Amino acid sequence: MQLQDILYSQGFGTRRVCAGLIQQGLVTVSGEVVSEADRSFDPSGLNFTVQGVAWTYHQPAYLMLYKPAGTECSQKPSTYPSIYTLLPSPLRLRPQKGPVQGVQAVGRLDQDTTGLLLLTDDGKFIHRLSSPKHHVPKVYDVTTKHPVNVGQIERLLSGVVLDDDPHPVRAAACEATGTHQLRLTLTEGKYHQVKRMVAAVSNRVDGLHRSRIGELSLPPDMSPGQWRWLRPEDLRAVGYAAAR
Ligand code: URA
Repeated sequence: MQLQDILYSQGFGTRRVCAGLIQQGLVTVSGEVVSEADRSFDPSGLNFTVQGVAWTYHQPAYLMLYKPAGTECSQKPSTYPSIYTLLPSPLRLRPQKGPVQGVQAVGRLDQDTTGLLLLTDDGKFIHRLSSPKHHVPKVYDVTTKHPVNVGQIERLLSGVVLDDDPHPVRAAACEATGTHQLRLTLTEGKYHQVKRMVAAVSNRVDGLHRSRIGELSLPPDMSPGQWRWLRPEDLRAVGYAAAR
């Protein structure tokens, strides 16, 4: 694949801009300046720098973000900064494959929710992980306003009715992890689902953190606001690689 096409595919600008960057000597591959835009490389796992920014070729892009509180999962946020501002610009500018440019969040978390969020430019991945049909479990650590009790846990497990749907929704798993803490596993993703389920059992969510999707946990060494690429084993952990 030509170097200009590699840069273009990774979000470093139009083909013309990418060719210009290379011709100006601003691109290195495996440590050496390459100034011929049409020189070919095997892109798989290729390491290069663009104006000093180190990059590894990824196609498609799959990543995780530790979403901090006070950020919106929208490209056009209304009140808080967008999570997309936490990503380097090439991830936001990757050429359009689906209806939108760049990587997209797989589902949304509320502005005050923290934790594991996946992003990709692979539409099939978004569909598979968001589809209620596939029942990918998501684990939430909830801090409640009032003490949790056995009755609340039983009701969350047996099913509660939310205002917009006569069919009860139930937690796939639910346990108390403290006097004011619950760990709740859901296999669907209705709007404000955790908050509404907890309200339906007469308690209230004071803090919400997503710690796991499928078998993929938020790594303990990540801090709010950080992102990293997903590895093949991470994709398997969310049940994707086997399905591709
Ligand atoms: N349920 C909620 O209520 N909010 C979230 O952010 C995620 C799940």
